[in-house]
Amino acid sequence: MASHNDNDTVFTSKLGVLVATLGTAVGLGNIWKFPALTGQNGGAAFVIIYIVACFALGLPLMVAEITLGRMTGKDIVSTFKELAPHRAWFIIAIFSLFSGILVIAYYSDVVGWVFTYLGKSFFGELNTTEPTIAKDIFDSVVHSAQPALTGQFITFAVIGIVLTLGVHTGIERISKILLPILTILLIGIAINNLFLEKAMAGLEFLFKPDFSKVTTRVVLEAVGLAFFKLSLGMGTLYTYGSYFPKNQNIPLVATRVMFADLAISLIAGIAIFPAVFTFNFEPTSGTSLLFITIPAVFAQIPGGTIITVLFFILTLFAALGASISLVEVSVATLIGQGCSRIQAVLIAVIGLFFIGIFATLSLTPVLSDVRIFGENIFDIYDFCSSNILMPLGGFFTALFIGYAMEKNTVTKELTNQYTLFQHSIIIQGWYFLIRYIVPILILVVLFNGLDLWNTIENIFT
Ligand code: PHE
Repeated sequence: MASHNDNDTVFTSKLGVLVATLGTAVGLGNIWKFPALTGQNGGAAFVIIYIVACFALGLPLMVAEITLGRMTGKDIVSTFKELAPHRAWFIIAIFSLFSGILVIAYYSDVVGWVFTYLGKSFFGELNTTEPTIAKDIFDSVVHSAQPALTGQFITFAVIGIVLTLGVHTGIERISKILLPILTILLIGIAINNLFLEKAMAGLEFLFKPDFSKVTTRVVLEAVGLAFFKLSLGMGTLYTYGSYFPKNQNIPLVATRVMFADLAISLIAGIAIFPAVFTFNFEPTSGTSLLFITIPAVFAQIPGGTIITVLFFILTLFAALGASISLVEVSVATLIGQGCSRIQAVLIAVIGLFFIGIFATLSLTPVLSDVRIFGENIFDIYDFCSSNILMPLGGFFTALFIGYAMEKNTVTKELTNQYTLFQHSIIIQGWYFLIRYIVPILILVVLFNGLDLWNTIENIFT
């Protein structure tokens, strides 16, 4: 049964396209990955390498995925059914789909923690400056089944409601609400924290270029971050690309999204590190920065309770935009198989929640004993998606659009049929990157992620 939202299948304005695409890029990565990696890996030196990685790998792949999606206007599975001259390319759809499924399975657990933390901050329950108490709170949220599953359930319920509304009414409109609010809150907190006593030390940690810290590992880390930040190799940009109107300038949108996302990451760093240094905390990374250090540090700032609430609201908004795009990949695929939007959302949300439950429970006593290669299910999902499926999806996308697709078809789509631009330096440059640089860079990242260098070295020594 078709309902009105089954016809709601495109983004409707230039701003809508930009904001929705930015909504998938901006996520937890901006809040805990980027600032921490930048601080630890040489400050501005890392930012410069990250920007180079975005131009050399991130942007060309973004453009490739959006272009292929828009070419067919279909979900990722139908796109390859239509475009692939040889069935083997279908593997791209499979890799991307599964990588997106595994990411949302554990990402939704973390978004659930953010929901719980928002509730706690609201009731002043995070008001402790004592790291050990902050750690106890974290344990009670993450390592006990009931609150963690409740948070994850709420996450999927919210995503389900937004996605049921459709592409324009749901995704585009919610992005137009979430992104401005989160940006304003982030800028407000950043400005506030710049007045703290040791703000300069925090800024120095973030921005002072220290090239002595730059090693091969750091470069690989920057490349990996560009991949995750720009939501590549997971079908999201294929799917959102299929909602782009034909008059949108794809390279321009991708470039704007990349810079806006970078700006949000940098402002997040400015909001976080001056406070961390002022109160003599360690600039840790990952989940402990977000859920232990930040609440403990913000509690000491004048007006800390309200700042913590605002901080978790903005984190939630960022994480929701990214999650919505991840679930939409499955929803679009199900619609492509003949489901109505409501059916597709129900199946996707219930199915993904089911897969996610295992990740969530693996951090609690219920499933913490289940180990695969010594890792829990949460980490296995992360490892398989980030280190295997995501790079493979990106690698084959580059080969597919660079070599298998006819050049004429690709450039026509890429330039919106303007013959004048089809031989422009931008198109030539993009072709060069997507054919030669992107595949090589991804192979290096893949080898690194799987620790294949060591394996090969061991074989030959
Ligand atoms: N880019 C998002 C972030 O920074 C994560 C994400 C990856 C979202 C892939 C969608 C798809 O958190």
